[in-house]
Amino acid sequence: MNLTDRVVVITGGAGGIGAALARRFAAEGAAAVVLADLDARATAAVAEAVGPVARGVAVDAADEGQVRDLVADTERRYGRIDLFCANAGVATGVGIDAPDADWDRAWRVNVLAHVYAARAVLPGMLARGGGHLMHTCSAAGVLTAVGDAPYTATKHAAVGLAEWLAVTYRDQGIRVSALCPQGVDTPMLADGLATGHLAARVIAASGPVLTPDQVADAAVAGLAEERFLILPHPEVAGYALRRAQDPDGWQAGLRKLVRRLRAAGPPPA
Ligand SMILES: NC(=O)c1ccc[n+]([C@@H]2O[C@H](COP(=O)([O-])OP(=O)(O)OC[C@H]3O[C@@H](n4cnc5c(N)ncnc54)[C@H](O)[C@@H]3O)[C@@H](O)[C@H]2O)c1
Repeated sequence: MNLTDRVVVITGGAGGIGAALARRFAAEGAAAVVLADLDARATAAVAEAVGPVARGVAVDAADEGQVRDLVADTERRYGRIDLFCANAGVATGVGIDAPDADWDRAWRVNVLAHVYAARAVLPGMLARGGGHLMHTCSAAGVLTAVGDAPYTATKHAAVGLAEWLAVTYRDQGIRVSALCPQGVDTPMLADGLATGHLAARVIAASGPVLTPDQVADAAVAGLAEERFLILPHPEVAGYALRRAQDPDGWQAGLRKLVRRLRAAGPPPA
């Protein structure tokens, strides 16, 4: 997909990767970029910074009624949606003992929001004979996020759902991409690094921490090639291959990294 003259919706667009996607899509000549996030004021501010093609709206991506309204309103205003980026996501930073409320929130935002987006946007795309869904998943969805059980489980589910959609709808003109970055310098990771959280330190030790703009560059290149798996960190493909070929060896390597980081202790404040 080429972004020129496209109508795009991005959830989680009030900052981080979502805002970078918006800036980059606008620079590529998108006709309209609709940013949807929880915080109306922050979303409107990002839209204003992106420019006149952008519009910010307050939407809870995990509320099906609100997603349906977002899609209907966008189609009414612009006539179509060419690309829907289900990008909103939440990390929890906790393990198996995370309260059910954290598991539920991760499931609703990281997985069900992608189901709601697909349900709302596919009828119009199918009627028009084409469209593209890009789901921001994570390298955690093809590997594992040490220190965050709900994030790992739900991001694996998000990749599984994206793959299911890709296989099911490809022959009807629908393209699906799973954007799977590793570490990206946004509040989600930066907050964890600032507190020395093990999950964030493992991510930072596993590859470069990219800027959101670098992730947006990789997304645009992946969309242009209509690739399913978009890996802004190319090394993730090697890790995933190793994990598939030798799961025990892969886990042993990861455990070794965790032991090394634990022994080193948190970095000085
Ligand atoms: N930062 C990383 O290292 C990293 C790595 C891999 C994947 N990701 C994924 O990238 C995506 C974007 O995250 P980010 O790094 O830009 O973090 P971020 O925290 O800066 O942005 C996430 C955005 O999602 C919004 N959001 C959360 N719940 C929402 C909801 N119910 N409805 C609407 N918006 C909601 C937040 O308000 C926030 O603006 C997420 O899906 C995240 O899991 C991030």
